[in-house]
Amino acid sequence: MFSQLVFYPIDLRCEHLFLPQGLNTYQPRFTWGLAGTGRNRRQTAYRIIVGTDKKAVANGVGELWDSGRIEATDSVLVPYAGKVLKSDQVLYWSVQVWDETGAVSKFADPAMLFTGLMDPSDWKAGWITRSFFPPDGRTPPQDTPYDNPYSALPADYHRREFVLSTPIKRATAYVTALGLYEFRINGQRVGDQVLAPGWTDFHKRIEYQSYDVTSLLCEGHNVLGAIVGEGWYCGRVALNHKRAGSHYGSRPAFLCQLHIEDKDNNVNFIVTDPQWKCANEAIIYSDLLIGEKYDARLEQQGWDCPDFDDQDWWNSQTLDVLPQPPVLNAARSCPIRKTSQFAARLLHKTKNGEFIFDIGQNIAGITRMELDAPHDAVFVLRHGEALQPDGTLYTANLRSAQATDIYISKGGQQVFEPRFTVHGYRYIALSAPENFDVAKINLTGIAVHSDLPIAGSFTSGSPMLNQLQSNIVWTQRNNFLSVPTDCPQRDERMGWLGDAQVFFNTAAYNLDTSSFFDKWLLDITDAQTNDGVFPDVAPSIVYTRFAPLPPRGAPGWGDAGVILPWRIYEQFGDVDILARNYGGMVRWMDFIERNNPSYIRCKALFSNWGDWLCLGKTTSKPLFSTAYWAHMADIMTCTARLLNRRQDEARFTAMHREICHAFQKAFVSDDGVLESDTQTAYLMAISYTLLDEPTRVRAISHLLRTIEETGGHVQTGIHGIRLICPVLAEYGHADIAYDLLMKETFPSWGFTIRNGATTIWERWDGWTPENGFQSANMNSLNHYALGAVGEFLFARVAGIEIVPGSAGRKFRLRPLTNRKIGFCKASYRAHVGEIVSHWRFDKDCLLWDVKIPPNCIAEAELPETQGDWKLDGNNIPEDMIHPDISGRRNRLEIGSGSYRFSLDTSSRSGE
Ligand code: BGC
Repeated sequence: MFSQLVFYPIDLRCEHLFLPQGLNTYQPRFTWGLAGTGRNRRQTAYRIIVGTDKKAVANGVGELWDSGRIEATDSVLVPYAGKVLKSDQVLYWSVQVWDETGAVSKFADPAMLFTGLMDPSDWKAGWITRSFFPPDGRTPPQDTPYDNPYSALPADYHRREFVLSTPIKRATAYVTALGLYEFRINGQRVGDQVLAPGWTDFHKRIEYQSYDVTSLLCEGHNVLGAIVGEGWYCGRVALNHKRAGSHYGSRPAFLCQLHIEDKDNNVNFIVTDPQWKCANEAIIYSDLLIGEKYDARLEQQGWDCPDFDDQDWWNSQTLDVLPQPPVLNAARSCPIRKTSQFAARLLHKTKNGEFIFDIGQNIAGITRMELDAPHDAVFVLRHGEALQPDGTLYTANLRSAQATDIYISKGGQQVFEPRFTVHGYRYIALSAPENFDVAKINLTGIAVHSDLPIAGSFTSGSPMLNQLQSNIVWTQRNNFLSVPTDCPQRDERMGWLGDAQVFFNTAAYNLDTSSFFDKWLLDITDAQTNDGVFPDVAPSIVYTRFAPLPPRGAPGWGDAGVILPWRIYEQFGDVDILARNYGGMVRWMDFIERNNPSYIRCKALFSNWGDWLCLGKTTSKPLFSTAYWAHMADIMTCTARLLNRRQDEARFTAMHREICHAFQKAFVSDDGVLESDTQTAYLMAISYTLLDEPTRVRAISHLLRTIEETGGHVQTGIHGIRLICPVLAEYGHADIAYDLLMKETFPSWGFTIRNGATTIWERWDGWTPENGFQSANMNSLNHYALGAVGEFLFARVAGIEIVPGSAGRKFRLRPLTNRKIGFCKASYRAHVGEIVSHWRFDKDCLLWDVKIPPNCIAEAELPETQGDWKLDGNNIPEDMIHPDISGRRNRLEIGSGSYRFSLDTSSRSGE
């Protein structure tokens, strides 16, 4: 019997993903959300089905697992407990749920997942590369046939022709590259992802992608094709611009294993081996930092189709000597894709004859050029984030990144989109042959990033705040490219841990980052040294200006190895991530304690960047470092408790106490002034609970003083910025928090927006009217860390907070209503369902609409305590009210459903 009210499972995820392409575990975990009408809806039981037949699974029949009815409210990361999974399976799973009345839902539309190649022995394919010399004595092909000052390599093209004599039931391809690849079958591109397989420390680990290619193959002749570029493996990235050697290897290689199952369940394999043939073609070179040079005249039509004459191609070579074969892991996160498009507008011609185009948004991506041009015509596209006062392109801040694409026309109508490069830019400077009519060219900016599902939306009555939110989201997209990078434009683009941990919560409100960080934590673990030191950047890099060792162990950066697993747990409820990382977290704590017996973390063992990019006075580094240590001791205490490690819990509790004691002695004067007396010093001491109660009270007033002293402006660097508005609001100074947030004078977010920012700048003074651009040595206009205020927009302006560890099953709703901004509407799609908070001042009324997903509860704090709040026009039922210790009656506990709260404000309209 079905309930009259609707109640059913939605958003089926496995291992945080809607569609896992390969599993890295025999015990995948299932998560579903719930949708339903009515209030106080709850799941009381569930039943999961897993099988290989989609239709059967939809009807509740699965040969691999039928959990049976399980009486439980769980819907997050429920582990598989069926028959042992095998490699190379396509599975479907579904779930049905029972509500609080005992009514049962239908089964959800089954979700698909690939198991991948779970055992290393499943791999039969060998790595292949394009050999320099054809073995038959033919003249070696010119490797860099054009003027190529960068010694970047031409892309490798590989092809393999084969015949299928029986009809196919199912075909799956497992593919990856040491470098970047585009995989093709019978003239068609496979999948829609780009820049695969992404970035890992290729010495240790590489991800592969799994594709269902059944529909691309046919009986008879077939061709597999691959274009392989240098990418993160052997091209330039992460300060490697001198070509002293690349971080990981010197030539790209390709790996592919195609499983073809016929009607009788026989499986045939086509794998990369010397039967493949190779050549170079139109990509003269393609590099993430330099750009791509493409000579369309060299295209070989049909090279990836049957019936192509490949007698000029020669055999690919197996690559037998890798320094150390990397572990092959199924892709854990969402693929990189081309997402939004921006039409470019021609602005003007510069004095040096370039045409300047504007795409209106600073992005990380590529430019598509559609053109009608004569044979041999050469076009050069340079990319940059800003223009100089004379209208020419500003590229000094790219440092050695050229961000330049070169295209040589094959004649007629044609389209060019570079394959293996990404530029951080808003403006394009195009050089075309003399007398060429640029009206014949259409340029479009295409954003390229890890395509994570959208999680949050935020809009308010303040255009400036809305632009700030847009700038934050774009900066996140632009820098979430396989790993969280610092910037997409200059020759750096590294996964800096400090920036990422500061921005983590903001990022998680905007996009569903669960799988992205799950994968990146492995990069961090891969980079941890034997003595427990976490890196400052992950994936680890080799050739840098920090040679001989990559930067590591910086307080606030290396510390992310402890902070991030905890925050991921808080946000997504994934305890396994904590368990998996616990050993490494403890080793880092051991290392710090061993080296700082006085409980003041004063030794800069490696790097110490402090409160990076603050203005005015700098925060004492020992104070900064010790505060992070205390924060970690706190996290370790909670983690040990959660994992039931009693001794460790006691150890870290004691450690936190020792640190606090030492901190107060070393850094706090009698009048409560902290060493260095900066906003960040107070913010860290307050947030990371380093002070006793009377000292904390005094610290707040000193914090207010430091804000007053700067005329009500922020002065913090990237570490203080995350804390400033939340701390002010938490301790009763929401008005000052709003003041900082809404400021438009220097330094502020509003100042950057007034000056045309469409992304978050690396530095408060990235550009000022007095001084123009900051030092080109380090001045990205697309750096997310100072955008860490985004968390405050969701958590306090809109009022949506997740209760840590509940994975969204419990919320805290505490909006800070504000007449100046008039309204705010935000939503957040947790894995369990969508929550909405929408408040607005409406004539004589303050209205607050909230929507809570089924199976979830919220503690709601009515924003204005004066006056009588109503629920749906009536008095609020007594059983909803949970007075706080001081007896205030504005705290409610509410179950799922939609609620409208209203407050008559007519007597206060003059406020
Ligand atoms: C990066 C920052 C990073 C910092 C550490 C800079 O070059 O852009 O994001 O945190 O270095 O020193």
